[in-house]
Amino acid sequence: MSIKTATLNGVATIEIARPEKKNAITGAMYQQMADALNAASTDTSVRAVLITGQPGIFTSGNDIEDFMQRPPGSTESPAFVFMKALMGCEKPVIAAVTGAAIGIGTTMLLHCDFVYVSDEARLAMPFVSLGLVPEFASSLIVPQLMGNARAAEKLLLGDPFTGADAVECGIANAVLPASEVAIHARRIAERFNGLPPGAVRDSKKLMRRARSQAALETIAVEGELFGKRLRSPEAQEAFSAFFQKRKPDFSKF
Ligand code: COA
Repeated sequence: MSIKTATLNGVATIEIARPEKKNAITGAMYQQMADALNAASTDTSVRAVLITGQPGIFTSGNDIEDFMQRPPGSTESPAFVFMKALMGCEKPVIAAVTGAAIGIGTTMLLHCDFVYVSDEARLAMPFVSLGLVPEFASSLIVPQLMGNARAAEKLLLGDPFTGADAVECGIANAVLPASEVAIHARRIAERFNGLPPGAVRDSKKLMRRARSQAALETIAVEGELFGKRLRSPEAQEAFSAFFQKRKPDFSKF
């Protein structure tokens, strides 16, 4: 079981738990996360959702072997089902990030309501380095959040950035010592036990209203390109290089 779920004191927790592969997310794991989010959305005893990783690793992103063996081909694929559930979740979603949050590990944070990061967190969206393109509206939201210049460093160069940078550019709420991130995130989640759930739900919906149509349109365009790029020789070279623990060679393209 690589996704652990539990509900305690009004908070549904989704824990990514595959430390031996740095919490890389497989299709089955996306589906489990989607199911947990959908269940939390309809369970009236749940007032907030908490997403965590393992100590020292949030997630290394999509499982690269899965990308090679089972490239997502449609909006029915597990990653899309998960992101649809995350974007559609009516309850507040809080992320607790320690260590690396790579690829979809950072993209999913753009769709959470609160993000707490550790002082050793490293976020990155290295899609271009992998021969891919940004996903799930990150090509829209990242430039909106931080301006095109800083977005280009993160999306075109794939530069990693710290938890403090994530706060500064509006992706995260606060940086905390690693041992305090999950405790603080849970404390924020439990505050929703004392707030009226209908008002929280309607307010979250209002806060997302303006960007949701544009985000959905962008996701469709990104998804089509992403699917094509996954099958491209550039991506195959990047994936092979990762598993062969060597630098990719893009000189022939
Ligand atoms: N997909 C599949 N396997 C992955 C993975 C991923 N995204 N990330 C890590 N792993 C595997 C490694 O292949 C390795 O497996 P092995 O022990 O069988 O060789 C194991 O997890 C440990 O990873 P390793 O790279 O040795 O750990 P590290 O501490 O040196 O580095 C990371 C950690 C997260 C920085 C590094 O694993 C990494 O860059 N991963 C890929 C990130 C990425 O590009 N994700 C896709 C984004 S779209």
